[in-house]
Amino acid sequence: MKKSIKNSIRFFSIVLVVIVYITTLILSSNITDIKTFLSVSNIIVLFIFLLIAFLGGTIISNLITFPIKKIEKGMKSVSEGKIIDTRHLKDYANFSELDELVDSYTLMMELIKKNNFDLNSQQSKTEIILEHMADGVIAFSISRQVVHMNKSAMRLLGIGKQEDTFEKIINKLNIKLDFDKIMYLPNYKTIEAKITIAENNLNIVFVPFFSDRLSPMGVIMVIRNITESVKLDNMRKEFVANVSHELKTPLTSIKGYSETIMNGDLTYQEIARFSKVINQEANRMDRLVADLLQLSRFDYKKVSWKKMMFSIVDVAKGVCEKMKYAAKEKNHKLECIVTVEPPNVYADRDAIEQVIMNIVSNSIKYTKDGGTITVYVGSINNNVYIKVIDNGIGIPPQDLNRIFERFYRVDKARSRKMGGTGLGLSIVKEIIDGNNGTIDIKSEVNKGTEVIITLPTKIKN
Ligand SMILES: Nc1ncnc2c1ncn2[C@@H]1O[C@H](COP(=O)(O)OP(=O)(O)O)[C@@H](O)[C@H]1O
Ligand SMILES: [Mg+2]
Repeated sequence: MKKSIKNSIRFFSIVLVVIVYITTLILSSNITDIKTFLSVSNIIVLFIFLLIAFLGGTIISNLITFPIKKIEKGMKSVSEGKIIDTRHLKDYANFSELDELVDSYTLMMELIKKNNFDLNSQQSKTEIILEHMADGVIAFSISRQVVHMNKSAMRLLGIGKQEDTFEKIINKLNIKLDFDKIMYLPNYKTIEAKITIAENNLNIVFVPFFSDRLSPMGVIMVIRNITESVKLDNMRKEFVANVSHELKTPLTSIKGYSETIMNGDLTYQEIARFSKVINQEANRMDRLVADLLQLSRFDYKKVSWKKMMFSIVDVAKGVCEKMKYAAKEKNHKLECIVTVEPPNVYADRDAIEQVIMNIVSNSIKYTKDGGTITVYVGSINNNVYIKVIDNGIGIPPQDLNRIFERFYRVDKARSRKMGGTGLGLSIVKEIIDGNNGTIDIKSEVNKGTEVIITLPTKIKN
């Protein structure tokens, strides 16, 4: 059995006192026989010395063991994950040898504290990043338990804390996947799955993670919402299909009519009629390509607006004048009315003229013969507005919010017959946005349509 420092010091103090006492007694030659040696007074003095030795030993041993005890307590705390303060430890170390021990201990504690701090801040940084990521992240241990799941993962997959294993989550998502297959994937390989939950297109990637010694420790699942990119991809495909179709239709006519002309045996009148069709179709292609080029300039931000202060009344009246003949052809009554003389607007004059032309030409096209189209210009609360009102065929409510999409038309055949490309309103929207204006359409089927545009009157910083 090991001896404690305390008992050893007490023992040595007592032995020392006894030896010193006996030696003193002998040397003082008071001792003549054993009787005198064991006299009551001598024994009492011996007891008092022994008591003093015991207490002295206890005090000295305490002075030595106190910092050792503290260090021991500190070690225990470290092993339990707590760290104790070492600042006052030095005050208790009463011997230079202990000073060194306390110094080493303090140094060690400081190092542990620093490492702990680094580790904690690293951990909380990682946790903050994971929690605020738009992508969902779930980590599974080798025993297939969820060890981490961020909020995005729960939101995207519609799951909660109760789904706490790989199997529960995979079953809920209806994916067939083997955990071991992921765990033993070759280096840098992942498994991907695409699913749709609540109208969201999700891309899920499974990847194993390893310890330092490269043994598999679990699986990470990363969930990304790809709805927007799927939508964009579909829009792109739709756009290409639309462009091809729009170009193919006039091309087929041009090809057919020109081949007929080339085959000969046609009267002069027939040739003239077919040539007119070819010319009309070529014009349609020309318009389409011009519209596409304009949109592509918007897309690539190649448009530089020539903004200036100008009178919107002049522009609106000019448009009405230019469209007079087109309106007359359909027996429409086209009017331009200034309700309140508005201040000048700050925008690109030519582009705004194109906007009003487009809207008035739509009203002319989509109003039965003999209709009324009125362009109102005015201002309320220092806001300049242009209102184009017709009593035409109107737009069904379900089509209203798609009307600014490229190639979107309520009635394709009708639009084509009218020479429309289906790109007019998308160009209008780009111009209005680029000039800091607003556009709003109200419509009722068989009653008519009202397009309201507002434009800025001040230079926007
Ligand atoms: N004033 C209107 N009355 C009824 N329908 C309209 C009106 N303006 C636009 N539309 C509808 O919106 C669609 C898109 O208009 P637009 O982009 O100018 O294409 P386009 O005129 O070439 O067909 C038209 O095809 C038509 O169905
Ligand atoms: Mg149009």
